[in-house]
Amino acid sequence: MNRTLSRYKKREREILSDPYEDRGVVLPSFRKIEGLFKSEGHLLEIDSLSLSFVGVEVLNDVSINVSPNVVHAIIGPNGAGKTSLLNCICGVYKPNRGTVRFERVELNGLRPDQVSSIGLARSFQQIELFAGMSVIDNIMLGRHVFMKGGILRGGLWTPSMMKEEIINRKMAENVMKFLQLEAFRDIPVGTLPYGVQKRVDVGRAMAMNPKIMLLDEPCAGMNQEETEDMTRFILDIKEELNLTILIIEHNMQVIMDISDIVSVLNFGLLIAEGKPQEVQKSPKVIEAYLGKGECL
Ligand SMILES: Nc1ncnc2c1ncn2[C@@H]1O[C@H](COP(=O)(O)OP(=O)(O)OP(=O)(O)O)[C@@H](O)[C@H]1O
Ligand SMILES: [Mg+2]
Repeated sequence: MNRTLSRYKKREREILSDPYEDRGVVLPSFRKIEGLFKSEGHLLEIDSLSLSFVGVEVLNDVSINVSPNVVHAIIGPNGAGKTSLLNCICGVYKPNRGTVRFERVELNGLRPDQVSSIGLARSFQQIELFAGMSVIDNIMLGRHVFMKGGILRGGLWTPSMMKEEIINRKMAENVMKFLQLEAFRDIPVGTLPYGVQKRVDVGRAMAMNPKIMLLDEPCAGMNQEETEDMTRFILDIKEELNLTILIIEHNMQVIMDISDIVSVLNFGLLIAEGKPQEVQKSPKVIEAYLGKGECL
């Protein structure tokens, strides 16, 4: 073993065996209690959001409040504006009007990496992972928002860089354990079944240690068993880690099973909001889906 590696291993043993070293970061922290909103009110406030591209109105005066520690679903027929809404929250799209606030901090104008660093993490409708890289390395990518070392420090491999790397690796390992991905640890993501890849994408978002997770169709394209696994993991994330989940999903069974509240978009308008059973019976919602030839 070369000297740098043995130094790394020694430091790793020290950090992992010392209960006072980086308490709450090395062990499964995920902002457990801290993730609960510190005061009364909403965690995420979407206020009168409008977005249009040339000639197309994508979101029209949409207001949605997300409470802490709930599964809040956004549903609606294809093209309703669901992914665009997430893109506005994350700083990928700049809305024409309206504001988004997270823990009362306005997100408008922030870049996607800045939004991630304050506690919002996202998984994607189309898997956006590095197919040739292993599961652990893809999950580690979720930690890059916390890596302070630039190119120079990276090249120098300073003690603080080493410590950062150990903490990030431990966090990624914790995520893999939580999502039962350990068996796939060193396998290139592109060779894994679709359902496992989707789980890695959720893992990459979890590794950011977020307060809220924005999941864009986490069960899309999955078989029944993979869907059941994913819904169980989403509920575990909410219940065991006290996180808040904003989820877009087309599978109504999943929505019925896990959501506390559902907001329905159609042609960029918020047409209904309420408990899943109420929303499912809403004539406006039924009409919106039938009009698009989709089933509810
Ligand atoms: N970058 C863009 N440029 C132009 N139009 C866009 C862009 N992004 C989204 N749109 C349009 O905005 C509308 C809403 O798209 P969006 O992807 O938000 O819908 P969605 O509800 O997520 O649909 P799906 O259920 O199919 O994923 C569509 O008409 C889409 O073509
Ligand atoms: Mg979409």
